[in-house]
Amino acid sequence: EQSVFQAGLHSARPPFTFQSDKWEPLAKEVLSASSWGYIHGNAGAGSTYQKNLSAFARYSIVPRRNMPSRQDKNGNPLFSDTSVTVLGEKLRFPVAIAPIGVQKIFNEAGEVATAKAAADVGVPYILSTASSTSIEDVAKVNGERGQRWYQMYWPSNEHNDITISLMNRAKKSGYTALFVTLDTFVLGWRPSDMDNGYNPFLHPDRIGVEIGFTDPVFRAHFKEKHGYEIDDTERNQGVCATGLTSLGEAAKEWTKIVFPGHPHTWEDLAFLRQNWDGPIVLKGIQSVADAQRAVEAGVQGIVVSNHGGRQHDGGASSLGMLPHIVKAVGGDLDVLFDSGIRCGADIMKAVALGAKCVLVGRPYAYGLALGGEDGVKHVLRAMCGDLLMNMHLAGYRDLGEVNRDAIIKEEDLF
Ligand code: FNR
Repeated sequence: EQSVFQAGLHSARPPFTFQSDKWEPLAKEVLSASSWGYIHGNAGAGSTYQKNLSAFARYSIVPRRNMPSRQDKNGNPLFSDTSVTVLGEKLRFPVAIAPIGVQKIFNEAGEVATAKAAADVGVPYILSTASSTSIEDVAKVNGERGQRWYQMYWPSNEHNDITISLMNRAKKSGYTALFVTLDTFVLGWRPSDMDNGYNPFLHPDRIGVEIGFTDPVFRAHFKEKHGYEIDDTERNQGVCATGLTSLGEAAKEWTKIVFPGHPHTWEDLAFLRQNWDGPIVLKGIQSVADAQRAVEAGVQGIVVSNHGGRQHDGGASSLGMLPHIVKAVGGDLDVLFDSGIRCGADIMKAVALGAKCVLVGRPYAYGLALGGEDGVKHVLRAMCGDLLMNMHLAGYRDLGEVNRDAIIKEEDLF
């Protein structure tokens, strides 16, 4: 099965380049200015984002030579084992799909294409609350063999009934873990979107946040407040003209509920623990103190993430914070990582610094823009294949062996 990832040995042409640093400029060519501004855009002057990327170059992988490889039962050499257990589930690679909202603005096939590709490659799909496809429709195409987790933008306490409805729908549709994003209770200061006057949730041409439009408790709330129903003819046609249609009004209302402008408190987590019976993961942790609070709150995991530099400017690189957080809480819960993963070597470095697995964000969305389902598959396979070869060539038989000794800090060398 590993031959799938040895693309270099086959002569089949890929849908687009294997050079991971080219995916972004290629995606820019095919996306509209506003979609490009949304996906690439960052908070402020983009310094957090730049630090996320440059942090990886500060660590280098140290290869080990003459290491015995794994063997099958006939004594034939095997490639390294990239599997890992995260949140009690076995993953084929230390990789999951980061939650990215409104994917239909990158490609009409949207979340359906990504969720199919994820199931095919064997990578968990994390569905965003800001998705342009419903919880149930994504589950259907992700299917029996797909692993899926649900990311929640957590409605304010006065809308606990909607929170419960979202969690129940996710549970019923086979999403096994709940990822609660803590860093986006209000959208960041994003000059590119403001320059374009663009909010993808309220865009006139496209359906924005389908999960809200299909939620029965939200729909009842909307009807009570506005005195009329969300019009499903408009929904099916994707008409979302803000202020002109029921759907536009619903998008505004939904945005208000999930981005209410004030954060939850650590005490509020008890409510989620009482109402969700699987693992809970807090996404967006960037300090040791908050990681310790997460342990005290009794959750099963955290994602060390700064939302790809999209929420606030001038922050530390997410990779820089990772080893400090792992040192404090790595023995108490699963530490996942995102913000800046662009190639296989990046994944190996994050694992060496203590991440159980990483979330791939923008790269797969570029793949979606460039080639729909095949594009996402290509990006995932390329990144996982690159990781496999890096591990194998560096003499690491399995991920358990990849620890802090697998990398060095460049600045310590000179
Ligand atoms: C995101 N991210 C995100 N996170 C989340 O919890 N819910 C969401 O709906 C979204 N939506 C979203 C849209 C777009 C266009 C981007 C680029 C990102 C953040 C995402 O899950 C992840 O943290 C970042 O993408 C990681 O940064 P890089 O590696 O993509 O730069």
